[in-house]
Amino acid sequence: MAEAKTTTTTRWWRGAAIYQVYVRSFADGNGDGVGDLQGLLRKLPYIAELGIDAIWLNPWYPSPMADGGYDVADYRAIEPLFGSLVEAEKLIDEAHALGIRIIIDIVPNHCSDQHPWFLQAIAEGPGSPARELFWFRPGKGEDGSEPPNDWQSRFGGPAWTRSTNPDGTAGDWYLHLYSPEQPDFNWTNQKVHDEFDDILRFWLDRGVDGFRIDVADGLVKEDGLPDLNGETPEPLPFSDQDGVHEIYRHWRRVADEYPGERVFVGEMWLPDPVRFARYLRADELHSAFNFDFLGCPWEASALRGVIDDTLAAHAPVGAPPTWVLSNHDVTRHVTRYGRADTSFDFGDRQHLAPTDFDLGTRRARAAAMLTTSLPGGVYVYQGEELGLWEVEDLDDDLREDPVWVRSGHTDRGRDGCRIPIPWGGTEAPFGFGDGTAWLPQPAEWSGFTAEVEAADPDSMLSFYRTALGLRRSEEALGDGDLTWLDLGPGVLAFTRSPGFACVVNLSSTPIPLPEHESVLLTSNPLVDGDLPSDTAAWLRLG
Ligand code: NOJ
Repeated sequence: MAEAKTTTTTRWWRGAAIYQVYVRSFADGNGDGVGDLQGLLRKLPYIAELGIDAIWLNPWYPSPMADGGYDVADYRAIEPLFGSLVEAEKLIDEAHALGIRIIIDIVPNHCSDQHPWFLQAIAEGPGSPARELFWFRPGKGEDGSEPPNDWQSRFGGPAWTRSTNPDGTAGDWYLHLYSPEQPDFNWTNQKVHDEFDDILRFWLDRGVDGFRIDVADGLVKEDGLPDLNGETPEPLPFSDQDGVHEIYRHWRRVADEYPGERVFVGEMWLPDPVRFARYLRADELHSAFNFDFLGCPWEASALRGVIDDTLAAHAPVGAPPTWVLSNHDVTRHVTRYGRADTSFDFGDRQHLAPTDFDLGTRRARAAAMLTTSLPGGVYVYQGEELGLWEVEDLDDDLREDPVWVRSGHTDRGRDGCRIPIPWGGTEAPFGFGDGTAWLPQPAEWSGFTAEVEAADPDSMLSFYRTALGLRRSEEALGDGDLTWLDLGPGVLAFTRSPGFACVVNLSSTPIPLPEHESVLLTSNPLVDGDLPSDTAAWLRLG
């Protein structure tokens, strides 16, 4: 394993390589078909060998799993399917012993409808203090049978569901920006603030190194919950409201009380990079996912535009950018990059659009070198290091993502990027665990197991290990800045000091490499010394 550049010294998060573990699909330690902490514990050496600074775990809390764990029923415990608090503490300790930090998901916008507060709000009925912790409102129309406003759930359908009163009559409506099983908290209530302070401390006391904040822009709603009336105001009344920043300033003060630089990573899908960067002011969050880059097509000028906008937006607030290619919500990039339209948009996942997987894989390798050498932090979503693709031919009956049902079966949702990881062997579940995996894996993944790939120097896994290892050992990489080189249309090229260059050829013809001392790595072999299409090179400059 390469020597870590960022040990316990300061600002580790500015250039960290962070590996995302979707616990349910990572490794099953007890044979029930669902990934768990035992499984993850066993695979920690694999993650360490990859050259990773931190792990971000998707929610691990008790949850009815109406939205893959983003419907939290208890913020201070571990989902029994995943393990126990004792195992979570062991995981934190063992990861730390391997030099890996642990970032957990915190879900402050909403909880589960099985959370004790919501159960109490329903049981105690209108007018009860328990209802003040959520957004209950009378319906419109004579009998209150229409939602209080016209907001739509991000999973489709109205963002409101009518509750039933304790006496069995139809009651008020409650707000849920996501599924009806995920009621939104009312952050105008101090009790919600106090509760989350306590939850943060609960986990900080147990040694977690940070939090990924789910729907970080959503907590504060505009006064009066105004209708949209078909408009798309900026900001929306349920997103990016100014008041949200005060919450994060307070959270930052809480985290800063703890030793060892505990961090916050925001999840915000915002249209304006400048408003996005406001979350990253020095007294707020440390970093946030760069989704503009993720959604950008595989096209040099578009990528250059996003990279420039990202750097320009982050510079004034002094925050490190991050680079993300995939996660548990989006179509895996091997698939995206193999299509005619290589962009990503939730509005149309291009389900089953024709895909050239060889091309997608080739581009994914080049993209990995681009993201790992741009200034700032980088995320790797479990399985991308194996070159896994989106599984699009899942039987519809097996789909668990609420998006599938809520969209009226028009959006096939996110199950296809959450297929259990193939670890070894020739048949499903490919070493995922002893039982049948909760979602079936494609038979072709026998050639994409960690076991097969570890033995193949040309595999995606070997490539990621090399690239992430170099990222650690090269002084120029991680935090810092870049200088663009102009190598003609269709080429992204930049230098980083000292003595490093990255060249990515997105044009349709091979290009000569600029002057260099040596070639550190290429994503595909050079041809007659030239860099072929959809290939990246890292160069040592003299
Ligand atoms: C963003 C999470 O990444 C996604 O998986 C989840 O469905 C929504 N937030 C709601 O919590």
